[in-house]
Amino acid sequence: MRDVAIVAAGQSEFGEFPQKSIKEIFAEAFDDMKSSLAGALDPSVIEAAYVGTLGVGGFQLGQPGPLLAKHVGLGNIPVTRVENACASGGFALLSAVLAVGSGQYDVVLAAGVEKMRDTSAMQGRYWLGVSGDTEYERLAGLTFAGIYAVMASRYMHDYHVPKKYLSMVAVKNHSHGALNPKAHFQRKITLEQAMGAANVAYPLNLFDCSPTSDGAAAVLVTSLERAREFTPSPVKVLGFGAGTDYLAIHERRSITGLEAARIAATKAFAMAGISPSDIDVAEVHDCFTIAEIMAYEDIGFAGRGEGWKLLEAGETTLGGRMPVNPSGGLKAKGHPLGATGIAQAVEIFNQLRGKAGKRQVAGARFGLTHNVGGSGGAATVFIFGIDA
Ligand code: COA
Repeated sequence: MRDVAIVAAGQSEFGEFPQKSIKEIFAEAFDDMKSSLAGALDPSVIEAAYVGTLGVGGFQLGQPGPLLAKHVGLGNIPVTRVENACASGGFALLSAVLAVGSGQYDVVLAAGVEKMRDTSAMQGRYWLGVSGDTEYERLAGLTFAGIYAVMASRYMHDYHVPKKYLSMVAVKNHSHGALNPKAHFQRKITLEQAMGAANVAYPLNLFDCSPTSDGAAAVLVTSLERAREFTPSPVKVLGFGAGTDYLAIHERRSITGLEAARIAATKAFAMAGISPSDIDVAEVHDCFTIAEIMAYEDIGFAGRGEGWKLLEAGETTLGGRMPVNPSGGLKAKGHPLGATGIAQAVEIFNQLRGKAGKRQVAGARFGLTHNVGGSGGAATVFIFGIDA
């Protein structure tokens, strides 16, 4: 496979935008991506596109790819919708990287979009639930918060971890989100607020959950050979991996970690030729607070049952040894399902180029994204580095 880079990246604001259509949100991300380039982008150079979206609300379940691509002025190119629940964006990026890496195309768009706030709370739960195992989980009434609550209970029991550590993830990510002008929630919260919020699915409360958000994100993927036609500072894809697992959690070997993510991370590090301790900044899939703690362990930032200890030491907070989710993560930046995996790459792109504003991790050289579908049925991990 030949070397691949990201040369431009952008995202829309994340939040609740009843006045904006899915096309407008997508165009906002595409325009933001264009503005990260030094010069103008002629859309006719884009040879293919992959668009991650679950299709929440069913507004445009069929053929969202062509609809959105034509709206932003792309040619009559192949455009593929990628669906893998909350990892739709990560798998759209994977498709684009493989398409360029294989030599089939030189310039490919990877994007993601979701419009989640126009549906009622009941419909929202239906659309989130469609990514659980229908036979065993969905029809039995298990919500996504419910599934992660089962994992959190098991983790807290097995490793004797007090609830406080879950809440510390929320406090950290809200403090990061307060520095991100595009985040859904831009307000800090205290540990007392985080611990005392209304129960959603015990032990998870409101502040243990990511919100449902409207938003889109886009990156331009090219061969490394052609990257400097677009920018003097491309971000190289050093490694990537993807994995899957049983959808129903009772069929898995363990529920205190995600096998799909472990497989993805192992492959990504093997390809990149670096180790978890080399990573300077990471965006991980904190759809629920317990998910960030499990991510530390699945990626290899901490040993099994020890991820929560990184929070105590402040190692993953901005200013710490290896900041995680400087964007605010899904918890505070927001979680428009199909956009999330791409938005993670946008943050790392900006971090590695020193363009992350108030949340910049000084001197970041290696960055990682970890994107999980549903309760861990699928996952992608990417490792990026500046092409010096
Ligand atoms: N974190 C912090 N505050 C939140 C929040 C969250 N996750 N979700 C909502 N809020 C706030 C809102 O801003 C609002 O505040 P306000 O009254 O001051 O305006 C209030 O809580 C109620 O918002 P609403 O949108 O009515 O919440 P809800 O009760 O319908 O939904 C959850 C809350 C947690 C159930 C919902 O966000 C959810 O299902 N999250 C999980 C999403 C998910 O499963 N994603 C897939 C992951 S695999």
